[in-house]
Amino acid sequence: MLKRNVLLGLGGLYGAANLAPLATAAPSPPPDFKTCSKTTITNGPEVPYSCCPPPLPKDTSTIPYYKLPPMNKLRIRSPAHLVDEEYIAKYNLAISQMKDLDKTDPLNPLGFKQQANIHCAYCNDAYAIDGKVLQVHNSWLFFPFHRWYLYFYERILGKLIDDPTFALPYWNWDNPKGMRLPPMFDREGTSLYDERCNPQVRNRTVMDLGTFGDKVDTTELLLQTNNLILMYRQMVTNAPCPLLFFGARYVLGTNIEAPGTIEKIPHIPVHIWTGTVPELNAPEGKPKYGEDMGNFYSAGLDPVFYCHHGNVDRMWNEWKTLGGKRKDLTQPEWLNSEFFFYDENKNPYLVKIGDCLDTKKMGYDYASSPTPWRKFKPNKKSSAGKVLDTSLVPPASKIFPIFKLDVNISFSLDRPASSRTQVEKDNKEEILTFNFIKYDNREYVRFDVYLNADKNVKPEDLNQTEYAGSYTSLPHTHKPGDDDHVSSATLQLAITELLEDNGLEKKEKIVVTLVPRKGCEGLAIGCVEIMLVDC
Ligand SMILES: *[C@@H]1O[C@H](CO)[C@@H](O)[C@H](O)[C@H]1NC(C)=O
Ligand SMILES: *[C@@H]1O[C@H](CO)[C@@H](O)[C@H](O)[C@H]1NC(C)=O
Ligand SMILES: *[C@@H]1O[C@H](CO)[C@@H](O)[C@H](O)[C@H]1NC(C)=O
Repeated sequence: MLKRNVLLGLGGLYGAANLAPLATAAPSPPPDFKTCSKTTITNGPEVPYSCCPPPLPKDTSTIPYYKLPPMNKLRIRSPAHLVDEEYIAKYNLAISQMKDLDKTDPLNPLGFKQQANIHCAYCNDAYAIDGKVLQVHNSWLFFPFHRWYLYFYERILGKLIDDPTFALPYWNWDNPKGMRLPPMFDREGTSLYDERCNPQVRNRTVMDLGTFGDKVDTTELLLQTNNLILMYRQMVTNAPCPLLFFGARYVLGTNIEAPGTIEKIPHIPVHIWTGTVPELNAPEGKPKYGEDMGNFYSAGLDPVFYCHHGNVDRMWNEWKTLGGKRKDLTQPEWLNSEFFFYDENKNPYLVKIGDCLDTKKMGYDYASSPTPWRKFKPNKKSSAGKVLDTSLVPPASKIFPIFKLDVNISFSLDRPASSRTQVEKDNKEEILTFNFIKYDNREYVRFDVYLNADKNVKPEDLNQTEYAGSYTSLPHTHKPGDDDHVSSATLQLAITELLEDNGLEKKEKIVVTLVPRKGCEGLAIGCVEIMLVDC
């Protein structure tokens, strides 16, 4: 524990307290519009235009709270790979009407660019509250912010084509049939087509939900299996507690990153897969920073963004059906956090997280689609069921903090308790926690974590009981002028199920292995521990 101080820097002490909300927490207030200012590109200079919302009423304190309107018929969001031509035509028409507003009425808040700018403003440091930057990623604001964003976007599209039941499609990447760019976004010359996509998505390529820009030399079948195993780990194994699924409590203006499981994977990999590879020397007018999907400031300029986030939003509903303690958070500072949006009639409103927990009450639902990942629990034991001898690797206390992760690192770690009964497991989740993960936030980063892994483990195949989970990061910056580029993050992996599957429940010590996958040469980790946590 003493060694922790070595890496104390930007991160302060919050990283260690992810699962223990502070009693004095205040909700995140709506942005202070008067302070809306220039934003910075993720890993780059200022955004070349302002992404602040169009002029608001002078007295912004009069902006009312939004009330969910009475609803006649649910809007049903369908899997994007299954919609018919009639729907595709309607959707294209609605998006092209939105794009027309950019030309005829550039300050209309319902225009395509103005709508995309909402994401830029909330994610690239435009808003300050008491001098602290507001960020809706990497915390428990992630799911509700995007839910409200899509809610209004969908209503605006419906209004433009005069169809009050219009619903966005969802990119069904959690099902092998949907693990490609949905075909309607691949028709050149239509309003759903984004020229600034990565060319690799154009060829009905199967996506890799764990990929970080690298070409993976493997079969489509293995890719699909790995994707489903990642889904299982992120939805089931690693998200038994609400704060693990939603992400940690948001503390305004901090740069602690503790995103929820789905925000990390597959949300970020899908962004990276679809956006261009950042190329700082690209000629003028060509994408430089991963545009469109590969960068927060530009992501909303690709129509597929809203389709991607439709499925992210659907995962919130699916997760709540998985049982156990998988329920919405109840902390008042979450329920009372606020955002600002324009509705389909151009009226500004404030919304609260507490009003977006039930999509049916909000007037929409998801057409069901198979969720095969529920059964994709890894069940192949690479170590043939052997429990590794913990005395053959150094104890964690001898090797942490680590200052680079350029080769695999194995160590033994003490558990706070062993041979836990079912009742004890139901009461407290056992969580492997890495604190003060420091890395250059201009890089794509990924490392994998294994328990009890011997040399037979194959990193390219995730169907192994020993695979515990991954840490990933998309390039980003904290605030304008911050040029030390160091992020401080926390990774928490729920391991109760893993200990059972690997026959480790009776052991007082276990072997943990870190496997670098991308951008880890300069990655440091302050400390590691196993905690028992009351979800
Ligand atoms: C798409 O596939 C064809 C045939 O395999 C290949 O020739 C072409 O280069 C690919 N295009 C892209 C953008 O990958
Ligand atoms: C994992 O591998 C085992 C053994 O090869 C196989 O029986 C099982 O079906 C695989 N699981 C998945 C989810 O592919
Ligand atoms: C790292 O670990 C993986 C998985 O255990 C293994 O396949 C790989 O060979 C290891 N690489 C090195 C350099 O030890």
